[in-house]
Amino acid sequence: MARFEKHLFICENVREPDDPRGCCSNKGSKVIRQMFKKRLKELGLNSTIRANSAGCLDACAFGPSIVVYPEQIWYGGVKPEDVEEIIQSHIIKNTVVERLLINDKKFTK
Ligand code: FES
Repeated sequence: MARFEKHLFICENVREPDDPRGCCSNKGSKVIRQMFKKRLKELGLNSTIRANSAGCLDACAFGPSIVVYPEQIWYGGVKPEDVEEIIQSHIIKNTVVERLLINDKKFTK
């Protein structure tokens, strides 16, 4: 079995609507993951790039949250219209989409 070159872990954690932490599912992450899967397949990348469903990534305030491995790049506030840019820029050209980054400063509490 071939190894994947990259994994996108897309938080699909679900919390109750009144939970103050919020959750990525309520912000549309399930649709976003389906879009990644569909587009990666259309581009013939699905055998080397995997769009995984993930539980909470502990970046709830920035959701929908995605982390890309092996490079450990975190994206937040990802919208459906960002999927193509992440694929074309990060996945295909290995150029990080700077405007969507959750950087270390944001993680600091
Ligand atoms: S619910 Fe998505 S990062 Fe926590």
